[in-house]
Amino acid sequence: MSPVGRQMQNRKFGFYLLCTVIATLGTIIATSVAAAQVADGPWMNPKLSPEKRADMVLKQLTLDEKLALLHGNGMAHAPQWQMPLSHLANGGAGYVEGVKRLGIPPLVISDAGYGVRDSGANGRYSTAMPSSLGAAASWDRDSACDFGTVIGQELRAQGFNMTLGGGVDLAREPRNGRNFEYAGEDPLLAGTVVGNLMKCEQAQHVVGDIKHYVMNDQETGRFFVNAVISKRAMQESDLLAFHIAISLANPGAVMCSYNRINGDFGCENSYTLQNVLKKDWGFQGFVISDWGGTHSTGKASAAGLDQEQPMADFFGPKLKAAVEAGQVPMSEIDDHARRVLYAEFLSGIVDDPPQLGVVDVEKGFEVSQAVEEKSIVLLKNSPAMLPIDPSKIHSIAIIGGHADVGMISGGGSAQVDPPSGNAIMPPGKGATNWQGHIWFRTSPLKALQAKLPNTKIDFDPGTDARSAAKLAKGADLAIVFASQWLSEDMDVPSLSLPNSQDALIEQVAAANPHTIVVLETGTAVTMPWIDKIAGVVEAWYAGSSGHKALANVLVGDVNPSGKLPLSFPKSEADLPHPGAPKIPSESQVHAGDVADNGAPSSQASAHAGYAVHYDEGPEVGYKWYDVQHKQPLFPFGFGLAYTTYAYSSLSLDSATKTVRFTVKNTGNRAGTEIAEVYARLPKGTDEPFKRLAGWKRVTLAPGESQSIAVTIDDRVLQTFDEEKNAWNLTKGEYQVMVGGSSDDTPLLASLEVR
Ligand code: BGC
Repeated sequence: MSPVGRQMQNRKFGFYLLCTVIATLGTIIATSVAAAQVADGPWMNPKLSPEKRADMVLKQLTLDEKLALLHGNGMAHAPQWQMPLSHLANGGAGYVEGVKRLGIPPLVISDAGYGVRDSGANGRYSTAMPSSLGAAASWDRDSACDFGTVIGQELRAQGFNMTLGGGVDLAREPRNGRNFEYAGEDPLLAGTVVGNLMKCEQAQHVVGDIKHYVMNDQETGRFFVNAVISKRAMQESDLLAFHIAISLANPGAVMCSYNRINGDFGCENSYTLQNVLKKDWGFQGFVISDWGGTHSTGKASAAGLDQEQPMADFFGPKLKAAVEAGQVPMSEIDDHARRVLYAEFLSGIVDDPPQLGVVDVEKGFEVSQAVEEKSIVLLKNSPAMLPIDPSKIHSIAIIGGHADVGMISGGGSAQVDPPSGNAIMPPGKGATNWQGHIWFRTSPLKALQAKLPNTKIDFDPGTDARSAAKLAKGADLAIVFASQWLSEDMDVPSLSLPNSQDALIEQVAAANPHTIVVLETGTAVTMPWIDKIAGVVEAWYAGSSGHKALANVLVGDVNPSGKLPLSFPKSEADLPHPGAPKIPSESQVHAGDVADNGAPSSQASAHAGYAVHYDEGPEVGYKWYDVQHKQPLFPFGFGLAYTTYAYSSLSLDSATKTVRFTVKNTGNRAGTEIAEVYARLPKGTDEPFKRLAGWKRVTLAPGESQSIAVTIDDRVLQTFDEEKNAWNLTKGEYQVMVGGSSDDTPLLASLEVR
């Protein structure tokens, strides 16, 4: 939630204070006697299932105790979101009362997209992992797991027992300012990466979370934009990503999104919450609202929202009044409360509460570096200047991107505070501010100098293109560092590199064609200079040890293996929505139309009328280019290495849907190839695009071959039948394609589904 939204809130702090003091006193008196008797009740037996334990506790609860589980108590560091118990939030995003007398701990919640948020502001330390989008480029379940494990451990060491990470909205709109927090454009890849990440994070005994459910695919107008899309398309795209992630992670919580979906807000949408998530998918955890994303009491409760955050505007006194007036049935309250209790038992926070400690800084560095080394994508290397050969390259001009001091990170509630402050601002300024551009002190220049001690390496800040070109001209190799900053609460106006960086690259390349561009971006960018330079390396937001990972790739100590988790278009004209998201002037929300919680009031929403029509349906990213017969600049699944691979010997087992083929390392360096399997549905399904159906990472010595088996995930072969509300596996001939990218699938065979 942005401070702008927060400033617009009309607080009722005094009223809350009074109510809560009275209520708390009452509760203390009523429960202190019971406390000693029941905290060791039978639900404390860890051998019982979380369902059983939750049921047992529920039976003991008073109405007030149940209701206390259903709302937040403010947010630390947000002056306008304070409630009497906010100080118990441990400096985090939220705090939910537990039931002390029964041994049920409070939820102490922190944002943790790529590391624990606000660690600096709280006088603590957290590792920054690479951006989730970067991690998705590794296509590596194990790396995702390591990513989640580190974050889970660091949350606990700080005293938190619940995370708000786990973003899996699809990169349907490449200009979405939060794409770096998500895992790309494909539901199978995104769901698998985020699902494994959150599974391992929750395994550390923190309540896991998957967000923002659903269709939160742009930030423009995020509090009220109506995402319009057919149920079939939504099921086969964004919902599929969530379903895969949720099935893998079994998270305690799912965060509903701010936006509306086909009319209703994400946090009061009975189709997405009740029908799909809870009924069809059998999700047993609780639905937590995005911060200020609750808009009603009865409607939201009936639709399946279980917990309001961060305040109690709708699920506090109003919910109690609604229950007492018989407007909200007790069964609904029980269901909400049971779900919160279930998540607590499921995640292990009751049996194993967080222990404060010093985080394992070294381990964080190691994991962050290892993930980044697998995530860096080599997009171009011709003429081959990489890896840098110090026997041929004696001088390097490093240009731009503050490469002398650090690397950029993504902003908003996912921001991780850099140790010892922002690398390019005066100390004490901007290290933690919302939407500050934060540079970690991870200098690629220094990391490269350490790797190439006998090479002359000079730096030019790139602020004057002529001076940069001059330095480049005299060097054997020029490396331009280009960055694109993204943040929550904004979309980028275009996919062009900002701040005249395109012009800088053009001028440097004109002076020295042996120019490499290193990108630090949070989503795709366009590259008008692509034919004029020798190489492009996509490093994403690279995390706490990104500079070391990058240097290892540049000098060849690591053979790059990452593949793009989203397509890079040649031009925005090729996108399903060529124009950047924009709120029409008649739909602008006026200050007076903003509700207490910072989100637009229902009145504002009603007249806002801002909708985004996702007419491209399930044709997100590469599926769109496929159907449109358009060639992207770099396709989904693409990435080069310092070696080459050959594919052969495809065979299919139709009964088990297993695809077998051989991959050979045809170069002279060991490397890891991500072998990709795509499928095209039979004619007549009306969905002619290819879909990612599986993949395998395989590490091969020079000359080595390996036979690989990939079993196709049924979920990507099915289509959704809206009328029957059911998935359908069409009988017929499916085309199966195998290769190193969505656009390069040399092996082809048919799979017969009977
Ligand atoms: C964001 C969420 C975040 C929450 C709490 C919201 O503005 O959309 O992703 O978890 O704030 O900080």
